[in-house]
Amino acid sequence: MSQRKILLKESEIPRFWYNIIPDMPTPPEPPLNPQTKQPAGPDDLAPIFPMGLIEQEVSTQREIPIPEEILDIYALWRPTPLHRALNLEKHLGTPARIYYKNESVSPAGSHKPNTAVAQAYYNKKEGVRRLTTETGAGQWGSALAMAGALIGLEITVYMVKVSYGQKPYRRVLMETWGASVIPSPSDKTNAGRQILQQNPDSPGSLGIAISEAIEDAATHDDTKYSLGSVLNHVLLHQTIIGLEVKKQLEITGDYPDVVIGCVGGGSNFAGIAFPFARDKINGRDVRLLAVEPAACPTLTKGEYTYDFGDTGKLTPLLKMYTLGHDFVPPAIHAGGLRYHGDAPLLCRLYSDGIIEATAYHQREVFEAAVTFARTEGIIPAPETAHAVKAAIDEALKAKEEGKERVILFNLSGHGHFDMAAYESYLAGKLEDYAYPEEAIKQSLNKLKQEIGL
Ligand SMILES: Cc1ncc(COP(=O)(O)O)c(C=O)c1O
Repeated sequence: MSQRKILLKESEIPRFWYNIIPDMPTPPEPPLNPQTKQPAGPDDLAPIFPMGLIEQEVSTQREIPIPEEILDIYALWRPTPLHRALNLEKHLGTPARIYYKNESVSPAGSHKPNTAVAQAYYNKKEGVRRLTTETGAGQWGSALAMAGALIGLEITVYMVKVSYGQKPYRRVLMETWGASVIPSPSDKTNAGRQILQQNPDSPGSLGIAISEAIEDAATHDDTKYSLGSVLNHVLLHQTIIGLEVKKQLEITGDYPDVVIGCVGGGSNFAGIAFPFARDKINGRDVRLLAVEPAACPTLTKGEYTYDFGDTGKLTPLLKMYTLGHDFVPPAIHAGGLRYHGDAPLLCRLYSDGIIEATAYHQREVFEAAVTFARTEGIIPAPETAHAVKAAIDEALKAKEEGKERVILFNLSGHGHFDMAAYESYLAGKLEDYAYPEEAIKQSLNKLKQEIGL
């Protein structure tokens, strides 16, 4: 029998996170204070983040030790299995060896708890009582709700309204872990009220929900804000994924030709890819492929410039590929990929040619997801299905070229709460959205006028 799962012992969980900053060919541009346009310092971030995380955000130390308390919680589901997709390989008739890292085995169903637990830990350590956050698909909100329950913090989640409607059981999941969930845009914040005034039927977006969550944290002394992606410290925490994979691939003797991940804000992709990016920067031949939705094509069609991380313009300015903070992406089912920007670290590496990117429409993505479900058994989250699609395309390319490639992708989450999306696909009702060229152009023009960078 061929080996399908490569497993590590609990004692083999990596003891540090990998910080890519000291290895980057070009240092990342600093966040800017939007008023002064000068680099934002710890003082700009302190009202909404604890010092422990701010230190990680700006750290240039390559390896950052993981506290014992966090390792202890990680051990509830880590190390996660690395699977060889033998059934999928056979179905495709490809000579490629396909591996996937299964982050769907976490209690919340995705990679997100890797950072949720770490963020809850550093906040608790500094006496914070409550955390606010946003969630798109509901995966991040669930992860933080779980972390709050395990570490002892109150959690308030602003959930993008379209997802709130599409995924009622994600809300119940969060509430079961003790969190409060508010559909966004809401009338609880100035940011939400403003959007509702302009468009009472707004489906919401991650950018809007972030504004609401930040405003809530900034206006309450005992409360801080927690972000599920984009920022350096979030990507840092996710590197445990790629560090584990490296140990697992050592067992098989394989090394990937291509590492694939879907990209919303960039955290699961960075998590699996950054430890390999380090090798690439040091001369190793490995491709790193980020996959995004054609309806929200940040890397492939965005502009590399400073922009706000949220619609309400409360965050510092971040240098990133962006579609403009005003851009509200079409209501695709991969809610976690509906973000106008991307992590600044990932964007810098993309701009430097270390990372490449591609985009797919949602129907072809669901077709790949169903193929995966019917061969490997796991039903992927719609976000994750973008990575599955790219892995299948790479495997078919290897077949065409008669090449024995090694393909690695991140199975960032399962889709058990996404049955409405699967139902729609199976009934032939799922629509592809045209590339929203005009809306993106308008949003970028407005950005240039507003920020002028
Ligand atoms: C399962 C899953 N994968 C991927 C993402 C995208 O986020 P990121 O790019 O930060 O990994 C999300 C976001 O909600 C998600 O839920």
